[in-house]
Amino acid sequence: MNTPAELRTALADRLTEDGTLTEPGWDSAARAVPRELFVGAYFVPILGSVPTGYRPIREGDPGWLEGIYEDQTLVTQLDGRTAPEDIGGETVTGIPTSSSTLPSVVLQMWHQLDVEAGHRVLEVGTGTGYSTALGAHRLGDANLTSIEYDPTVGTAAATAIKAAGFSPRLIIGDGLRGDPDGGQYDRLIATCSVRYIPLSWLHQVKPGGRILVTLSGWSYANALALLDVTGSGEATGRFLEDQASFMIARPHDRPPRPTLDLLPGEERPTHIDPATLDSWTGSWVAQLAAPSAIRMGVGAQQILWDLATGSQARTAPDPNGGWTVTQRGPVALWDRVEQAVQSWQSAGEPHQDAFGITISPARQRVWLGNEAGPGWDLPI
Ligand SMILES: C[S@@+](CC[C@H](N)C(=O)[O-])C[C@H]1O[C@@H](n2cnc3c(N)ncnc32)[C@H](O)[C@@H]1O
Repeated sequence: MNTPAELRTALADRLTEDGTLTEPGWDSAARAVPRELFVGAYFVPILGSVPTGYRPIREGDPGWLEGIYEDQTLVTQLDGRTAPEDIGGETVTGIPTSSSTLPSVVLQMWHQLDVEAGHRVLEVGTGTGYSTALGAHRLGDANLTSIEYDPTVGTAAATAIKAAGFSPRLIIGDGLRGDPDGGQYDRLIATCSVRYIPLSWLHQVKPGGRILVTLSGWSYANALALLDVTGSGEATGRFLEDQASFMIARPHDRPPRPTLDLLPGEERPTHIDPATLDSWTGSWVAQLAAPSAIRMGVGAQQILWDLATGSQARTAPDPNGGWTVTQRGPVALWDRVEQAVQSWQSAGEPHQDAFGITISPARQRVWLGNEAGPGWDLPI
């Protein structure tokens, strides 16, 4: 049986071989920080279960340590309340609300943030504290502040970070409001996603500073953005090619809603294949066009439901070939999605790194190609 140190070295070696670890500072952090201190217990998803069932794995269970040193995300909380320690051996269902993100993504993001010695960094989404400890190892405790929304999660992270020998500044609160004591940061990294860039971040990151965050929405499509802050409340950025997805910041999540009743509406043929919305970038383009809609269904049978207006759209295969869409309500959801997808298809269906974002105090606009290209306003 391998020791934790052996497993940690083996994981770091794999991350070096696959090109994730290229900088000595992050390499030595990956080799030094014991992930098992941060995930005493975790949930393992049961493959193929619908809705996804989770099995708790606790310290001492077979495979516990080996699972920690796989390059995988470890879910540590469901539905904002259930921890693996809270239940017996039974299978549970729920929505993941906290986790230790897979080490390759954490380290890749720290690398992409492009930190330099002496930079002051704000992390939003402490989670288990594993990424925070890596950051503290590289940057020094005094240069790192991390904010966690959930008090139970934040308290456990504080204990783990201390046990690992680090003491960055830790805050329990809403990271979308930035550092409650104000402050000027060189870098901001978020390991929860947002529907739009919070104004506080644009004021607390210095001009010339950078923000790395996944932009998400109520259909849970994601795109990783690297922004350069250009002035007070202003930034420009581009999207990166990595397919990173994070749980959405709790205050930006979908509001509670009743059960959807599918109602009659206006029917017409659709000009795009509805299954386009199942692809990584296609789903994100659709979300840009209908930012307050949630997407359900799959393949030819997509359902969009706008939580702001109650508008609906649903597609179905047409017996004569092609597909039809039925729309209802004040917002013609499919018209908007179809137009956006067609713009993207006309550009050759590029990956997300063909998109950029321009932010002013009045507007946050995601564009395709360049600022004059097709664009969509985020719901600020
Ligand atoms: C994917 S986990 C973080 C992973 C973590 N960095 C790690 O390596 O273990 C996302 C975390 O963001 C937290 N979160 C959600 N909304 C937040 C907010 N508004 N401010 C701060 N943290 C938030 C969640 O509670 C969750 O713990």
